[in-house]
Amino acid sequence: MGGKEIHRVVFDEAAIAARVAQLGREITEAYPEGDLLVLGLLKGSFIFLGDLVRQIDRPLQVDFIVASSYGTGKSSSGHVRLLYDPMTVLEGRHIVLVEDIIDTGTTLRCLLDLLRARQPRSLAVCALLDKGIMSGPPDEIRFVGFQAPKAFLVGYGLDHAEEYRHLPFIADLA
Ligand code: IMP
Ligand code: MG
Repeated sequence: MGGKEIHRVVFDEAAIAARVAQLGREITEAYPEGDLLVLGLLKGSFIFLGDLVRQIDRPLQVDFIVASSYGTGKSSSGHVRLLYDPMTVLEGRHIVLVEDIIDTGTTLRCLLDLLRARQPRSLAVCALLDKGIMSGPPDEIRFVGFQAPKAFLVGYGLDHAEEYRHLPFIADLA
């Protein structure tokens, strides 16, 4: 389906599990006190977030946000609207925003503006993958799983036309 095929496994299940466990430890150590809210950006983060929170050894709550680009449907429009706004109060809490992949960073930049306005106690981003092409990346990007090749990746939550999200590994397409 989708006219494309898996070309090569870029990060296999074992590599992902090991890195997610490390990220869980990093996040546990980074938040010795206070209310922690792990906020997943749907849909791409759903598998990563599920694995990540089970590696964080301190109390936390989970919520999600759903975002959409305005207007043309191109993510380059630079404007993001929340389709689902978390029910949870954000003010005064440590927030870790969980993203699947940072590509141009347009989505992330807009979301950070929206979330900063809610006056959290702190705001950090945990991205599974970063293509490293975002210019002037914001200081909030504190936790990154892997530097990603500049290819189109699928699996472990990442899709191409809504396919491939269920794959337990991350691959590129041919
Ligand atoms: P950005 O706004 O350009 O950083 O794009 C971020 C969003 O585009 C991610 O949250 C993904 O949903 C999607 N995206 C970017 N690169 C890839 C990729 O290689 N595979 C799958 N989705 C991607
Ligand atoms: Mg997508």
